[in-house]
Formats: sequence, structure tokens, C-alpha cells
Amino acid sequence: MDDWAALGYLVAAVLFILGLKRLSRPRTAVRGNQYGAAGMLVAVLVTLTDNSIIGFEWIVGGLILGTVVGALLAVKVQMTAMPELVALFNGFGGGASVLVAAASYTQAVDLATDTSRLSSSAALASLIGAVTFTGSLVAFAKLREALHWSGFPGITILSGLGVVAAVVFAVLTVVDAENALWLWLLVAVGAVLGLLVVVPIGGADMPVVIALLNSLSGMAAVAAGFVLDNSLLIIAGSLVGASGLILTQIMCVAMNRTLLAVMFSPAPVGNGAEVDDIYAGKVRFTSPDDVAMLLESAERVAIVPGYGLAVAQAQHAVRDLTRRLQDRGVEVVFGIHPVAGRMPGHMNVLLAEAEVSYERLVEMDDINPTFEQTDVTIVIGANDVVNPVARTDPSSPIAGMPILDVDKSDVVVVIKRSLSPGFAGISNPLFAADNALMLFGDGRQAVVDITKSLQAF
Ligand code: TAP
Repeated sequence: MDDWAALGYLVAAVLFILGLKRLSRPRTAVRGNQYGAAGMLVAVLVTLTDNSIIGFEWIVGGLILGTVVGALLAVKVQMTAMPELVALFNGFGGGASVLVAAASYTQAVDLATDTSRLSSSAALASLIGAVTFTGSLVAFAKLREALHWSGFPGITILSGLGVVAAVVFAVLTVVDAENALWLWLLVAVGAVLGLLVVVPIGGADMPVVIALLNSLSGMAAVAAGFVLDNSLLIIAGSLVGASGLILTQIMCVAMNRTLLAVMFSPAPVGNGAEVDDIYAGKVRFTSPDDVAMLLESAERVAIVPGYGLAVAQAQHAVRDLTRRLQDRGVEVVFGIHPVAGRMPGHMNVLLAEAEVSYERLVEMDDINPTFEQTDVTIVIGANDVVNPVARTDPSSPIAGMPILDVDKSDVVVVIKRSLSPGFAGISNPLFAADNALMLFGDGRQAVVDITKSLQAF
């Protein structure tokens, strides 16, 4: 690599770091995104001009293919499918690291060049990349709710054996560096391990897994960077790996779980059983007109969004309702649970899209003590994150998960289409609470109807 390329990579790395710093605050996030994009542009240009390994016809071919697939995905994928798309991208990152590491390594073996420098980083990139690839595919299927299987008895023991086999093959890849077979066996074991570890994880633990897979994709890129001797890939991979780890830690705290417990003693997936016992004859229903009447006399209103807000694309309708209430002198705040929705920051992104002011978004720890002074809380498409069994039932899949204490407000209006469970698959006694009123319907339409009724007062 010549000095100009090294300088270009340094500029790109600085832009990535500045971008990340700015991404940590909503106000500077757009600028942060632009810094990151500029850094990536510099990185791609430098890599292309410094390229002596591969013919440009391959690069252009890959560029066209990637652009077509990317453009199709961007146009076709629904906003609600974004989280699973992100999971898929993590997997592609891991898969790419496997291909890069394995190609460089087998080429070195074929050319009978010294593979000792490559072998340990190729082994790491292949193992972590393969785990990330298959693990992300499982996470993708689970987030799409296309896979509900949580494995078979003894799957954890099998995972343990897989870890042992991976260590053995990794060591063999390093000590018998002229034989590419060990690396391929390592890739195979890594791929199976990714399946075995992620299949049993479900219920409320998925947020932790998504964040961890994101981090692993970065770590695989770091190892691939060592294989290619590419400083920028090492730096960029480290940034992804480290920020993914921090996010994993935040998600663990949000779920009140340790990482080890998530990986090796997955929470059971609920089956929505005993619904009759919990709901029969106890659920009270309401209408948009009645909710509008409640809001008319309220002084403080809290809105708690969940995954259903994303499904219904109700964010603009919610903003309109908020404005209408504010015009009437009502104090309106939003309670944001860290794992509401299907990806970190899901609710913040949706509400920002509708230009709901950041100042109104209150984090869980800050809003919880205030629910007792709240006249009406409107829960829109949230379920698990407001489920009181997390506090009361130690055998529940979400036991110990901190929740938004909406049941402590004077009245709770829950807007959803039915009494169906949320992602964790468990029933929710909140719906049968004395101070709860259910408003059945699509989230967007229900909010629009409430706003219309409010206008009539
Ligand atoms: P959920 O518990 O998944 O509940 C969402 C609710 O939205 C459902 O009960 C559904 O009920 C309702 N809904 C769906 N479509 C709707 C529509 N068009 N209009 C109105 N309501 C609609 O959501 P949550 O409370 O946000 O909790 C998130 C869950 O996902 C947690 O268990 C969390 O662990 C998990 N998870 C989170 C993440 C991240 S990182 N945030 C990642 C993976 C998993 P109806 O069908 O009756 O309408």
C-alpha cells in the first residue's frame, strides 16, 4: 500500500469515528450519517485505486449486482421488515468475511506461499463469520415470525460439543497451516454452531441476539482485515464490534438478563395458554368517542408506542393527536421502552420520521415514577413492554424484564386489533386490569378516529 492509500484510509477512519460520535445524539445524527457515508466513499475510492489483486470487470460486475439487489430491497421492503433486513445484513457481513478469509487462505495454500501469518486470522474470520452468517439467518426467520422452533432437548450440550470441535479445528488450521481442509471443517462447524446457538433463543431475548450478531459481524471483519492486511477494515470492523458489544450490554440491562443466560439458558417461549382464565369476562372495551371524552378532561397524557405502531404506520396520526392535545393545553409525553418494536431505537426512528419533538420522548426509568400522576396512558400496539407479569411471575419468559408501569396511571387505553399476544407469545393481564380499556382496531385508524372525535368537543 502506498502512502496516499494509507493517508486515504486514515481520513476514512477519522470520518467513521466522527460519524459515530455524532450518531449518539438525535440532533447531530443526520450529520453523523453524512460523515459515515463520506468515509465509506473515501474508503471505496482508495481501495479501488490501490487494487492490484482483482480485475475491474469483477468489481464492476459485483457493483452492478449489488446495486440491483440493494435497490430492489430498498424499494420493496416494508418499513416493518427493516429489523429482519438488518439481521440479514449482519449475516451477509459475516458471510463476506468467511469468503474473503477462505479465498485468501486457500490461494496462499495453492501457491505454496507461507500461510503461517494468515492462518490464525483466517481461522478467526471463518469461525466468527460462519457463526454470524447462519445465526443471522435464524434470527431473520424468527423476526419474520417464520420460525418458531426452539430446538430439541440436549441442544445446549450439542452447542458445547460444537464449541470444542471449533477450538480443535481452529488449532489444527494454525498448526497444520498447509492443509486447507481444517479451515473448511472450521467453517462447517461454525455454520452449525450459529444454528444451534440461535435456534433456542426466542421470546424476549431476541434484541440481545441481534445486537450480539451485529457485533460479531464487526469482529469477523477485523479478522478478515488482518488476513488482507487492510488497516481500514480492521478499524471499521473494530468500531462495529465495539459498538455492537455496547449495544448488547444495553439490551441485556433492558431485558434484565446476562449474556451467558441468553446464550445458554434461553427464556422459554410462551404459548399464550390460559387466555380464558386471564381475560374471561374481565376485559372492558371502549370506543374512539369515549377515549376522546377521557382525553378532553385529562391534564397529563402518556403515549406508549410498540411494535403495532410500526405495523399500522400510525406515527403521523399520533403526531396529529399529540398536537391537538397540546393545543388544548394537555401535557403529552411518550414513554419509550428500550426494546419496544423489533430493533434498537425502533420507536425513536418512527416518531422522529413524524417529527415528534425529541424532548417529548421520555426513557423508561424517567417516565415510570410519573405514571401515578398521569391521567390517561394510551398504549398503541405495545404488549410485552407493558406486561405486568414481568414483575409478578418469575416463571414467565419475560420475568424480571423492566417494563413501562402503565398500569399505575389512572386510566390505560390499549389500542390493538385483538387480545393476541406480542412477540414473547404470552397473555397480558393488563388487558383485564380494572383501570384498563381496550380499543380494538388498527392503530392508525383508531388514533385518527380519536383525533376526529376530539375535534367535536
Ligand atoms: P409486541 O409485544 O410484539 O406486541 C405488539 C402488538 O402490536 C401485538 O400484540 C399486536 O396485537 C399489536 N399490533 C400489531 N399490528 C397492529 C396494528 N396494525 N394496529 C394496532 N396494533 C397492532 O411489541 P412490543 O410491546 O413493542 O414489544 C417488543 C417485543 O419484541 C419484546 O418482546 C421484545 O423483546 C421483542 N423484540 C424486540 C427487539 C428490539 S431490539 N426492539 C428485537 C427482537 C424482538 P394485535 O395482533 O392484537 O393487534
